[in-house]
Amino acid sequence: MNISTFIYVFTLVFTLWLPVIDALSTNMTKNLKVLVSSNDFPDSAVALLEEHFTVLKSRYINFGEEGLNENKQELLNLIPGCSALIWVSHHQITKELLDKAGPQLKIVSTASAGYNNCNLPELKARGIKLTNTPDVLSAAVGEIAVSLMIAAARRFTENLDQVRRGEWEIGFQKVLGQDLRGSTVGIVGFGGIGQATAKRLAGFEVGKFIYTGHNEKPQAKEFNAQLVPLDELLAESDFILLSAPLTDETRHMINKTTLAKMKKNAIVVNVGRGDLINQDDLYDALKNNQIYAAGLDVTTPEPLPKDHKLFTLSNLFVLPHIGSATVRTRNDMAILAANNVINALYGKPLLTPVRL
Ligand code: DGY
Repeated sequence: MNISTFIYVFTLVFTLWLPVIDALSTNMTKNLKVLVSSNDFPDSAVALLEEHFTVLKSRYINFGEEGLNENKQELLNLIPGCSALIWVSHHQITKELLDKAGPQLKIVSTASAGYNNCNLPELKARGIKLTNTPDVLSAAVGEIAVSLMIAAARRFTENLDQVRRGEWEIGFQKVLGQDLRGSTVGIVGFGGIGQATAKRLAGFEVGKFIYTGHNEKPQAKEFNAQLVPLDELLAESDFILLSAPLTDETRHMINKTTLAKMKKNAIVVNVGRGDLINQDDLYDALKNNQIYAAGLDVTTPEPLPKDHKLFTLSNLFVLPHIGSATVRTRNDMAILAANNVINALYGKPLLTPVRL
């Protein structure tokens, strides 16, 4: 047999065997168990996982009281022997749950961009990998950031209240708000979400973008955005957007001291995590009209109790953590979380790893 015939025969045989090899390797992975922590994880992503693995799905949601009670016990029962955990929740991953899992647990794939609730020290100590779902949600969260800027600047809480009570303030100088047009927008955390927000603000004729962070971002050029120290951002911004992750460094970064450095017309918007802000200090600043208004998609705790003092403020607009809550985005997040598990269990590079 000459060399070209050999190559032809080899390629033919190899190609014919490919589906068999594929089927064999899928059969080998079918005995790996993947636990999905909440019963509302999208079916499309569960189906994708089921092509490869045995999927165990909780019967409960992993949010609110159900997440802390019935579901907690359910997960403790289901996790022994699992190789992967898809974490769908804002609740903490406990040491108890990781202890129950056993040493074969290779990856935790959180279906969120934020991972402050993922118990990083315990994952690191056990050599468990962590992935998150950044970028796919930036556009949706950016839309909510813009919505909150407008809602706070145009006094939606107060105006809605007037409409509901049927007692409208009327007159040429009544319920005047603040413009985005010509304003300085300061972004704390100019990553995917910060940039997506700046992009969405393109039509609003913002005067200037400034941002803080550890490094200059190459993407900043697109928005003419300038890196400035935090104090400068606080002193110059008309709108301050918090889109930074929650870390030891950023926890309560908005507090009595930093609020005192803001302009009287400043509007604070938070789409990151509730604990970026010391809420008691924010309450005082809003109550005393030390700053103009705030818009929050995230609070501490969540849900914020309905009798919380923040709800007495007419210059605060609150949403129930819906930044990434669109059909398309939640589906994209779930598929990305599933693909991270698939890659991890096949020993391929992770798509969106978190450095532990
Ligand atoms: C995230 O992904 O971190 C969003 O806040 C939704 O949970």
